[in-house]
Amino acid sequence: MTKIAVLIGSLRKDSLNRKLAVALEKLADGRMDFSYADLADLPHYNDELWENIPDSVMALKQTIEAADGVLIVIPEYNRTYPGVIKDAIDWGTRPWGKNSWAGKPVAITGTSPGVIGTAVAQNHLRATMVTVGTAVMGQPELYYAYKPEHFDADGAVTDDSTKSFLDAWITSFADWIAKTGR
Ligand SMILES: Cc1cc2nc3c(=O)[nH]c(=O)nc-3n(C[C@H](O)[C@H](O)[C@H](O)COP(=O)(O)O)c2cc1C
Repeated sequence: MTKIAVLIGSLRKDSLNRKLAVALEKLADGRMDFSYADLADLPHYNDELWENIPDSVMALKQTIEAADGVLIVIPEYNRTYPGVIKDAIDWGTRPWGKNSWAGKPVAITGTSPGVIGTAVAQNHLRATMVTVGTAVMGQPELYYAYKPEHFDADGAVTDDSTKSFLDAWITSFADWIAKTGR
């Protein structure tokens, strides 16, 4: 089973992005094993904290390193990606010489209630993930304008066209990992 580390760019319980991640997890059932990184206690990046490494930092690095691929699901905050994701990226790249991100296949998606569905934020994040040495999936893109009526009470997608679109996207990510993973 392909191991996927999942980073969600929203910390709130009812996050639409968490719901999208759960829907993708259900579609990938039997093919991928999702492990959700806990970013709620992650401190802002501070070099001095390496002297007494926070558990949340080590847990994040281990989750990324143990995964075959990383799925990042983000809301758009003021036309870019949320700060919690930037902190997760920065912690992952350090200490020098121990970049947890190096060579990891990464897929980026996100959702918002707005019509452009996180397109600007995703483009910013793609640029950053190239910089930190990941193999970012460029295509297909998945910008999803969230519709609550597309999901059932368990979080599975019920709308047929959304379901086939999301399923094709997660299958492309599996193919991307097979092609670029180490
Ligand atoms: C600080 C902040 C900035 C936001 N900026 C944008 C934006 O630039 N584009 C957008 O489509 N939605 C924006 N939104 C609305 C979010 O898309 C919406 O709150 C979404 O539900 C957040 O994701 P979540 O449900 O996973 O928490 C913003 C929300 C917040 C809290």
